[in-house]
Amino acid sequence: MNFVGSHILSVSQFDRPAIERVFEVADQLEPYAKRQRVTRVLEGAILGSMFFEPSTRTRVSFGCAFNLLGGEVRETTEMKSTSIAKGESFFDTARVLSGYSDVIVMRHEIEGSVAEFASASRVPVLNGGDGANEHPSQALLDLYTIRKEVAAHGKNIDNLRIALIGDLKYGRAVHSLCRLLSLYNNIEFILISPPELALPAHYIDGMRAAGHRVIESSELQSSIGKADILYVTRTQEERFPSPEEASKYKGLFRLNQSIYTEYCEPNTVIMHPLPRDSRGNANELDNDLNENPNLAIFRQTDNGVTIRMALFALILDVVNDVDKYARDVNWYTDKRFK
Ligand code: NCD
Repeated sequence: MNFVGSHILSVSQFDRPAIERVFEVADQLEPYAKRQRVTRVLEGAILGSMFFEPSTRTRVSFGCAFNLLGGEVRETTEMKSTSIAKGESFFDTARVLSGYSDVIVMRHEIEGSVAEFASASRVPVLNGGDGANEHPSQALLDLYTIRKEVAAHGKNIDNLRIALIGDLKYGRAVHSLCRLLSLYNNIEFILISPPELALPAHYIDGMRAAGHRVIESSELQSSIGKADILYVTRTQEERFPSPEEASKYKGLFRLNQSIYTEYCEPNTVIMHPLPRDSRGNANELDNDLNENPNLAIFRQTDNGVTIRMALFALILDVVNDVDKYARDVNWYTDKRFK
């Protein structure tokens, strides 16, 4: 895969060497992500950050990643503050905004919208999530996190046993992660969801065709015992026909410390793309897990910055220049990253 000048729209663009390249660059950039070093390699460059759907982590971490490489971020966060609200097409908006930016990240509720926008853009476009379809940068940071977490227990991604829990129908993070994991060998996927929110059949067919084992279940406790990773997700209520419909599925699977202790093997890693829904009727990942050393959710969010820095460095072709424009950090950082 040639990263330079490329759009990143789907995980289907990646093969294993491409993933390894992203991870290698991420490892190289970690001292910058952790504020041990500062680089100005993208000084003068502008990221157009266009989020037409709610976002905290993806929007802010893409922005931070660009800032940490020395670039500036110009944000458009609401549809009603853009000319799309006046009937402007994606084509026109893309032609215009790509003249103001060196690279664009976009999130939109319509599946395929980011690809449509990219086809008219004069600069590379990264998909920050298009409806229930894909979330490629999330899948890369999840896989990078999985790799690090299981390596600490002497394992690697091949032969992984992963339980994916919750709304597997609408969860784009799960969709992209399943496709990336399918590039590895001998994965056991344990899909835990209500039948109505099962992973769409074409994903399962693809996983089986790639030689992986797929088990479907609608029961949490009896299904998590052999997993290396529990990947918990939120009911994607914004994709349901009504809030009442979504509320039927909230709170069906709740992972907490007592269930973890009773049913999981020691060192089972707990992940979630976040946000977790901490309201009483949902609470799929209880706060009583916060002190559990295997709760990797905040390591995931930290890794998100590193992975997004790697994508920018590769796409804008500055990987070999990062250190040339670097210096040590000159402010207090001791306690921020242990
Ligand atoms: C996810 C998303 O937006 O798809 N969040 C994220 O980007 N980290 C998952 C979610 O919203 O539940």
